[in-house]
Amino acid sequence: MRIENHPILEFKRKKIIKFTFNGQEVEGYEGETIAAALHAAGVKVLGKSLFSNRPRGFFCAIGNCSSCFMVVNGVPNIKTCVTDLKEGMIVETQEGKGVIK
Ligand code: FES
Repeated sequence: MRIENHPILEFKRKKIIKFTFNGQEVEGYEGETIAAALHAAGVKVLGKSLFSNRPRGFFCAIGNCSSCFMVVNGVPNIKTCVTDLKEGMIVETQEGKGVIK
């Protein structure tokens, strides 16, 4: 299911682009957020909680929490609910605090 409306962002979907999620090629729209593209692709778990290692997904969806932290192009702690998707991005599930690669 693709998210059509966002509480603070306006999605201006353009062309379909490809990116990588945990080593697999995924498609999304240029102009939507990383988390929105993953949600549309059926990905609900974006990371694991810091202490109890439980699955985490969207929570606030407006950049106010840390529920959607992921590693993007080797950089941890990226708030994917408010970060625009770009062609060729390498997106990975984050576990723990994240380590810069
Ligand atoms: S879901 Fe809260 S910052 Fe992204």
